[in-house]
Order: sequence, then C-alpha cells, then structure tokens
Amino acid sequence: MSFPINRMRRLRANKTLRRMIRETSVSVDDLIYPLFVTHGLDVKLQIPTMPGVYHFSVDALCEEAKSVRDLGIPAVLLFGLPAQKDEMGSEAYASDGIVQKAVSALKRDVPDLVVITDVCLCEYTSHGHCGVVRDGEIINDETLDLIARTAVSHAEVGADMVAPSDMMDGRVMAIRESLDERGLENVPIMAYSAKFASAFYGPFRDAVGCAPKFSDRSSYQMDPPNCREALKEIALDIEEGADIVMVKPATAYLDIISDARASFDVPVAAYNVSGEYCMIKAAAEAGYIDEKRIVSEVLTSIKRAGADMIITYSAKDFASWI
Ligand code: PBG
Repeated sequence: MSFPINRMRRLRANKTLRRMIRETSVSVDDLIYPLFVTHGLDVKLQIPTMPGVYHFSVDALCEEAKSVRDLGIPAVLLFGLPAQKDEMGSEAYASDGIVQKAVSALKRDVPDLVVITDVCLCEYTSHGHCGVVRDGEIINDETLDLIARTAVSHAEVGADMVAPSDMMDGRVMAIRESLDERGLENVPIMAYSAKFASAFYGPFRDAVGCAPKFSDRSSYQMDPPNCREALKEIALDIEEGADIVMVKPATAYLDIISDARASFDVPVAAYNVSGEYCMIKAAAEAGYIDEKRIVSEVLTSIKRAGADMIITYSAKDFASWI
C-alpha cells in the first residue's frame, strides 16, 4: 500500500516531531579530542596545515585539557613531538619522553579526563616509518618489542588506555602480554585495526613531521579498496585482546564502520582524520559551506554508520555549539 495512505511527510511536519523521530544523535560523550604535545614551556603553536589545532608544551597542554574537560568531552588522544628523532624511535619508549611527561602531568592536573595515548614509532623515527627499518624494509617482529615497550611506558605513568596505530601484525598481543606482565592488566587497548593507507593523513604528517623519508606505508597500512580484509584485521585484533577497534579514516570508510558494527560486539571507534577536518575548515573559511552544519552532518553520518565513539579535531567546536 502506498500513496495516498502513506505520507512520509507526516512525521516531518515540525521540529518537535522530527526530534522524536530522529534515529541518531551525536553527544559530547561520543567524542575524543586529539592533542599534540611538544617540549618547552608556555608553547601554544598553531599547526600551519591544521587551522585551530596546536602544539602545546606540557604546562599549556594541561590548561587546554581542562577546557576540554569543561566542555564535557570525556577523553583525549595524545601524540608527541620528540626533541630528537633517531633510527629506532627511542623517545617513543623513553621514561622521560614527551608523552610520558605529558601523561603524568595530565593525570595530576585533570585526573577525571581519560588519557589515551597513540602508540607508534613514526613521530620518533628519523626515517618516518612506523617500524624498525632494515635494507629499506619495515621489519614486523622486531618492531613489536618497541611498540610494546612504548605502550608499557605510557601505562606506567598513568595512561588510561593505549592505542597502537603502527599496523604491525601481532602488536595487540605483544602489548597485552607486556602490560599484563607488569600488573597493568586493567589498561584497555584501543586498536587502530582497520587503518588504511590514506591521503587524508597529509596535514597530520606535516604537523608532526612523520611523512616517510622513502617509499610509503602501503606495506603495513591497508589498501583502501579492501573491506573483507578490514574485517579480518578487526577479528584478529579482537582475538589478540583489543578492547575497542577502530576504523580510520572515517567518512570515506563508512561502509567499513557499518560492517564492523554489524560483525563484532566490541565498541567501534572511528577516526575523523586531519584531512577530513582540514577540507571542511578550508571550505568554510572560503565561504563555500556552513561549517557548523557540515561538521554536525559528518559526525552524525559516522555515528549512523555505527561508530560508538569518534576521534575528531572538531570535538571542541562541536561541544561548544551544542
Ligand atoms: C601514526 C598516526 C598517523 C595518524 C594517527 N596516528 C599518521 C600516519 O599513519 O601516517 C593520522 C591522524 C590524522 O591524519 O589525523 N601512525
């Protein structure tokens, strides 16, 4: 039976009705805000490729974290800019590394904010790859130990959750075992499980200077056309002990988010990455689009696809608008 019995417009007649009928909503509770920490004192440096996003020194980071908490955003995802980069990315797992210092300070000053740390080597290695490099190759199994050491060094100073983004095989298991051996069995792992080799990371790589010096990340990050493979990556990470799985980037991969939500019973996170953010910022600044409406529509689409939480540089803006 169809028209005129069915009239879809009946339930769209006014704002209040539409509010009742609405199937999806984004709340601040769904958001995770990425933060970048750098050495120094009283530093708040605008990242040229990412309008509205900054490098903070630890002291300034704590002030920023308070404003994030005051907006009701439950969590931040922390990235570090080391003083020096080397072949083995040693500041990533140094006890006095920049992220380790920042985590201690954040847990002291803003204890109720959940601090998640990005666990990877690429910001710390001179070659810019996420793993140990030998003869132009990224060596999987030797990287695992360094990744696990990095995660442990974050958890030991109080990180609430660790988020490996390197895409080496077996890293979730290596991290889980290392954490458990040290009595850190209650620290959850949010795995960047289906992380695609994407051009959307461009502005982030400029922001932390982690673009690979040779070749690219296609031998470890996923090939964008693949969906079945993404589901296998996620299944393996769950088997290895991932508590939360992630799809990254978000908007060009909504089908993967949707399939992940339908296939697994763990929380699914989506990373609305730097390129997705910057395209909207640039178009808004040029006057081509309405930033508030676009951001809200994009975040809603990620939620509707099935994400339980969204890592987004728009978190503070969005929280201040709603
Ligand atoms: C590190 C890492 C990257 C991002 C998050 N963690 C860059 C990359 O893999 O090249 C991208 C984040 C963004 O673009 O916002 N491995």
